[in-house]
Amino acid sequence: MKNQKTIHPAVTETVVSSGGESPEEEKLFTSLRASSWNEFAGQVQVKKSLRVTIDASKKREEAIEHILLYGPPGLGKTTLAHLIGKELGVNVKITSGPAIERAGDLAAILTNLSPKDILFIDEIHRLNKVVEETLYPAMEEYALDIVLGKGPSARTLRLDLPPFTIIGATTRAGLLSGPMRDRFGVILRLSFYQPKELEEIIERASKKLHINIKPQVRKILAERSRGTPRIALRLLKRVRDVAEVRDVHEISEDILTDSLSMLDIDHLGLDDSDRRYLRIMIEKHDGGPIGIETLAAALSEDIGTIEEVIEPYLLQTGLIKRTTRGRIATDQAYKHLKKTPRGKNSEVQLF
Ligand SMILES: Nc1ncnc2c1ncn2[C@@H]1O[C@H](COP(=O)(O)OP(=O)(O)O)[C@@H](O)[C@H]1O
Ligand SMILES: [Mg+2]
Repeated sequence: MKNQKTIHPAVTETVVSSGGESPEEEKLFTSLRASSWNEFAGQVQVKKSLRVTIDASKKREEAIEHILLYGPPGLGKTTLAHLIGKELGVNVKITSGPAIERAGDLAAILTNLSPKDILFIDEIHRLNKVVEETLYPAMEEYALDIVLGKGPSARTLRLDLPPFTIIGATTRAGLLSGPMRDRFGVILRLSFYQPKELEEIIERASKKLHINIKPQVRKILAERSRGTPRIALRLLKRVRDVAEVRDVHEISEDILTDSLSMLDIDHLGLDDSDRRYLRIMIEKHDGGPIGIETLAAALSEDIGTIEEVIEPYLLQTGLIKRTTRGRIATDQAYKHLKKTPRGKNSEVQLF
């Protein structure tokens, strides 16, 4: 990056990811961040679309189109924003929806950008209305309308901005307003990774961290990572710590199994909150249908966390389904918890 200077407090603030990482973990993820397209595994469709967009911007010598990236936490949204900036040779300033409190904050950030710079707004669905509406003309016409003064003497000042790009990231595309979504030229959804792709990511990270891990152990680790690079890397770090404590120099299957059971991660990669979710459905609500509010109250979790973090993977693995009347546990979920399926769920009308 050319310019590391602080341009506004909201831009330097550490972006809190929805994964709830400690600063130490966040540092580790940053050090392991893919630094080239070759190191960025999977997401073939996303990479293809980005290639077209990047090439078009280079050819036209214009700022790249505004891009919206969405999908569960830990799938590589922040990493992609950095890769795009790197390839285009422009600065990537990082901020997040909640960090921009006032329109003035946004103005300070935008007026400090250099031409073609990228402003990455994490959790863009959490921008407040006033800031969001200030952002519209900025994205569309590279201009800011600033209201000076109050009452009858108030006047509007139009500030021209350098051409720039917003890369927005969200775990909840559904919460984004229509007008906001319409301002993005490219909207890309990141999906869970295949175990093979995660193996590749684990292999690269273990080389960087000088961790000795056998291919068959890597494979198990990949299968237990909930289709998520961030989780794969977190588990890798955990097994490395266990190996270090035991003073062994290679991660064996035993060490992996012990570490995973210490973390309460089962053979599908589900953790304690996933299983609590399923148990509440099955043991307390007869497998559903059950509404999200009831689940949230029973789990003492907020609805956002359930919808963004817990459910996407349970849906993907077919353990739960969404119906018009609420969530239901599938036969597979019953089997996973070693319960006898009721066999009536399959008749519930799905949408
Ligand atoms: N496709 C990928 N290939 C290699 N590493 C990845 C990939 N996707 C994510 N990672 C790694 O996983 C960690 C979390 O990714 P991040 O970009 O922070 O996810 P998000 O912003 O979607 O929460 C980072 O260390 C990143 O380098
Ligand atoms: Mg991120």
